[in-house]
Amino acid sequence: MKARLTGVERTLLYTLYFRALDARSAHPIVGDAWAEDVLARVEHTPWKIRMAAGDRFLGILRARKIDDWTRAHLAAHPDATVLHLGCGLDSRVFRLDPPPTVRWYDVDYPDVIELRRELYPERVSTETVPTSVTAPGWLERLPSGGPVLVVAEGLFMYLREPDIRRLLQRVAARYPTGQVVFDTLSPWLAATGRLFGFTLWPLADPRRLERWDARLHLVEEIPTIWSVEHLTSPLFRLAYRIPALREGMHLLRYRLGTTADV
Ligand SMILES: C[S@@+](CC[C@H](N)C(=O)[O-])C[C@H]1O[C@@H](n2cnc3c(N)ncnc32)[C@H](O)[C@@H]1O
Repeated sequence: MKARLTGVERTLLYTLYFRALDARSAHPIVGDAWAEDVLARVEHTPWKIRMAAGDRFLGILRARKIDDWTRAHLAAHPDATVLHLGCGLDSRVFRLDPPPTVRWYDVDYPDVIELRRELYPERVSTETVPTSVTAPGWLERLPSGGPVLVVAEGLFMYLREPDIRRLLQRVAARYPTGQVVFDTLSPWLAATGRLFGFTLWPLADPRRLERWDARLHLVEEIPTIWSVEHLTSPLFRLAYRIPALREGMHLLRYRLGTTADV
């Protein structure tokens, strides 16, 4: 299949590859049954993504924790709306298979969404939204009302802080209850991105978002490398034991509004 992915869109190939590696392993952590096939159908340079294989546990543990949070949210709220921002070619909606009462929106740039539509079948109560998440208007065209679950996996570090802030304020204005989950980079890790020519968004204090909007409340903050048992790589087992490395990336979960049950 012809690749139309450019710039930041190409980062989705790495997370897809990590889930394909996981699916091939003896004891999968995420168990993405689609990743291998989808990756094989997208044009890419195999040696380039293979060079990132050593980082796979970051992507795999992140995806697994977000799957677990999503499952829990949907079990408690079978009428939820899910905004899966920067969805890439992730099969999350297929592997979690929520009931048709859940409205699921996969949001990414138009080129990515076009590929998604070629690679994945249509699914009831599931829509794709071809847009930049920072563009005006797209969110306001979706049905509003809670309880929402906003998932932004591997996305916010590529955005500018004022855009993230505005996006979260728009979400909070549309959905009175729900949750927002995403991952972040510590300042030192984001700074290393600059050595490679990337500008990455750092977050030192997750409580800062509570000051952006009084409707956002931090519920959980865990290192992206959250489990040592799942780590078969000696390098990652070592990283887990070194606080500065373990704390380089975080998974955050916020509650929206005043409901205590999310
Ligand atoms: C690292 S990939 C993660 C993809 C997917 N969440 C996963 O975990 O496999 C980052 C994704 O964010 C998307 N992205 C980056 N900036 C975006 C923006 N402003 N609006 C929509 N999508 C964006 C990219 O196109 C890409 O699909």
